[in-house]
Amino acid sequence: MAEMKMHAVQYERYGGGPADFKHVDVPIPSPNNDEVLMKLEATSLNPFDWKVQKGMLWPIFPRKFPCIPGKSILPLVFLGTAMDVAGEVVGLGSDVKNFKTGDKVVALLNPASGGGLAEFAVAKESLTVARPPEVSAAEGAGLPVAALTAHQALTQSAGIKLDGSGEQRNILITAASGGVGHYAVQLAKLGNTHVTATCGARNIEFIKSLGADEVLDYKTEDGAALKSPSGRKYDAVIHCASSIPWSTFEPNLSANGKVIDITPSPSTVLSFAIKKLTFSKKQLVPLVLIPKSEHLSYVVNLVKERKLKTVIDSKHPLSKAEDAWAKSIDGHATGKIIVEP
Ligand SMILES: NC(=O)c1ccc[n+]([C@@H]2O[C@H](COP(=O)([O-])OP(=O)(O)OC[C@H]3O[C@@H](n4cnc5c(N)ncnc54)[C@H](OP(=O)(O)O)[C@@H]3O)[C@@H](O)[C@H]2O)c1
Repeated sequence: MAEMKMHAVQYERYGGGPADFKHVDVPIPSPNNDEVLMKLEATSLNPFDWKVQKGMLWPIFPRKFPCIPGKSILPLVFLGTAMDVAGEVVGLGSDVKNFKTGDKVVALLNPASGGGLAEFAVAKESLTVARPPEVSAAEGAGLPVAALTAHQALTQSAGIKLDGSGEQRNILITAASGGVGHYAVQLAKLGNTHVTATCGARNIEFIKSLGADEVLDYKTEDGAALKSPSGRKYDAVIHCASSIPWSTFEPNLSANGKVIDITPSPSTVLSFAIKKLTFSKKQLVPLVLIPKSEHLSYVVNLVKERKLKTVIDSKHPLSKAEDAWAKSIDGHATGKIIVEP
């Protein structure tokens, strides 16, 4: 029987941008025993996706990609690495127990192989969850990396209980208008928190509408200094922006305040180690997402109950995935960028 083909986006080397995208017809992937095959309905982009292409995460991602950035043409062709998807199950590995064909799902693809810029993709059953009819494909596809990062930062790193129990905490969320930040504001407000947020002037009303108690324009003096307008000191900072030095955070933290850095650099890791070794009460904590399906189900359910929303920056057809990619690289998305096959 002739092999079934699908439309997919590929690139073949490190260092390129959207101009390196190739639109190709490739075989529809076959699910391994523990995987589901999905017909994709929506894919969301994360900065991680283009950072892999730029070689910024080398040598960790992709593990099978041994090239020098910008130099070698790979023997392996790499599917566009987007990994947050929503779709319909159309095939099942032999060990899959919890899904059947026709189920609507949200899934996180393997970050080392990606494959979300395509008509079909395979995901581990363990990182696939049911998507109820109340949650659209685009709303669901926005969630995996961004909402789970916000959830992990708030619950595990900052110790916020999202059922509203626990002592009141003052939280600062930087880059609150981005993919992670806009979920972080909403999730934080499910807990017993006072939320200060930073964003650009054009998004101040939007971030207030998500529940933030006070909002700073990051381009003003007070915004750049991260000063709470009400004079609060932060118990935790969910730091979704980048390039803010410790000296800016430090005077704004409470005695045991923590900065949870979701874009950790070698200097974050060094600061983390130094602060641990010197028994500093104020901490800089690097965060790397460890995705769990129960947390993905939790945030999908919050969207179903209208307690959490995915704000969509823009939608792009797969045939114009380059536009979506360029928009993400530009760094000025409000909410999530979606690609639809
Ligand atoms: N550790 C992990 O596992 C993990 C997981 C997810 C994400 N991340 C990282 O977290 C970062 C954020 O991801 P994202 O998906 O939220 O990015 P994003 O959606 O691309 O963020 C874009 C938003 O950030 C705002 N922004 C940029 N610089 C700012 C600043 N200095 N102050 C306030 N707002 C600022 C922009 O506002 P304007 O347009 O007004 O400038 C824009 O709305 C990325 O570096 C990503 O790689 C890490």
